[in-house]
Amino acid sequence: MAFWNRRKSLDTLASLPGEQRLRKTLGWPHLVALGVGAIVGTGIYTLTGIGAGLAGPAVILSFALAGAVCACAALAYAEMATMMPVAGSAYTYSYAVIGEAVAWVVGWSLILEYTVVCAAVSVGWAAYVTGVLNAWHAGVPHALLAGPQAGGIVNLPAVLISFAVAGLLAVGTRESAVVNLFLVAIKLIALAAFVALALPAFDAGHFSPFAPYGFFQLSADGAKLGIVPAASLIFFAFYGFDTISTAAEETKNPGRDLSIGIVGSMVLCTLIYMLVAAAAIGALPAGALANSAEPLAFILRGLNHPLAATLVGAAAIVALPSVIMVFMYGQSRIFFVMARDGLLPRALARVSPRTGTPLLMTAITGIWAAIIAGIAPLKEIAELANAGTLCAFIAVATCMMVLRLREPARTRAFRTPLWWLVGPLAIGGCLYLFWNLPAITQIWFLSWNVFGFCIYLLYSSRKSNLAGQQPGI
Ligand code: ALA
Repeated sequence: MAFWNRRKSLDTLASLPGEQRLRKTLGWPHLVALGVGAIVGTGIYTLTGIGAGLAGPAVILSFALAGAVCACAALAYAEMATMMPVAGSAYTYSYAVIGEAVAWVVGWSLILEYTVVCAAVSVGWAAYVTGVLNAWHAGVPHALLAGPQAGGIVNLPAVLISFAVAGLLAVGTRESAVVNLFLVAIKLIALAAFVALALPAFDAGHFSPFAPYGFFQLSADGAKLGIVPAASLIFFAFYGFDTISTAAEETKNPGRDLSIGIVGSMVLCTLIYMLVAAAAIGALPAGALANSAEPLAFILRGLNHPLAATLVGAAAIVALPSVIMVFMYGQSRIFFVMARDGLLPRALARVSPRTGTPLLMTAITGIWAAIIAGIAPLKEIAELANAGTLCAFIAVATCMMVLRLREPARTRAFRTPLWWLVGPLAIGGCLYLFWNLPAITQIWFLSWNVFGFCIYLLYSSRKSNLAGQQPGI
């Protein structure tokens, strides 16, 4: 079959032979924990400061803009995930609704997203570790605490945490989900404590001038500033709910559990961010925030709460790895599904009989995340991760709309409200945010996909199960 005609059948997606399926071990509490575990992380703990530098106090509007786009995408995800409760997320939906070539681009973009997110969160985590090491006068040389662009050699803490999380995931899904639940609780308690201590110091004067760069402005050196470029960065803080849909195949009752997991975790996190951002800007001027790699601890120190600053830093150190865990989990499963479909070498799809997890893929993801985290600066890698995510969100919203038009009578356990409005808002919003990413990020992203599409044309399109050249696995 020519590759532009290849589509998976929606009806057969849930009928894989038993030995190829992942174990069904997850319920909705696991999924909400998985979602919150992935969403609340480096975005709010670290990028808040960089975002404030780009937009001033109006970074709060950047949070609102990015959150609104994500909310629209989350609704489309919930609808698609409940219709196709199998692993693979945006990649699988695109395969069934649009076709193999687009699914490849989406899957290839997800591989970029997940690996780079793991790296970005590792770097954000390392910033809090460095803060603690400095406070303890531990004497670790700067060369081992920062990548080359920050005047060091390698960001060793970021490298080590990438490897550590990969090892934990290799132990198995169930155990990892339980650990994740514990870490999510710590992360949320720390944010609640931050808000409680920062709000009493709220100074409305910090909000003036509110938007020093307006919606969009080019700096003298060509950098994009303002509310929208900040939203394109801060967008990082909101996604993660999409990784829940990658666990669809391991969910006990997909119709109910996925809807609650995706929409519930999204709403919860949006509320938390609004509170934290308002408290942070109210407590310290945006310009001061912009210079800190660990802004929440920095604010508490500025407010003369050194013990609380240390505890919030410690909470970030203990809990941010849960974000890496969820994205590494999602990454290994995207690989798994693409290999199962014949688009990547089938040896990669092998599931360990002991742990029920794809061990080889988990190891490869951990190694790549560690390499990127060791040398790259946070802002650049977060923006690159955003590019991959925006691509996936556009694909999912498109799939939701195409399927509504093509098969309106098909059973849907979750229906996107006002789909004809929410779908275009998700697609338009994601395109707008992508457009406002730095030019270098757009070039990296497009290069990655040109490279990937060459692999598709030369290898994957021939090896695909639907090409009929290989027996199905
Ligand atoms: N939303 C996740 C974070 O902020 C990726 O770390």
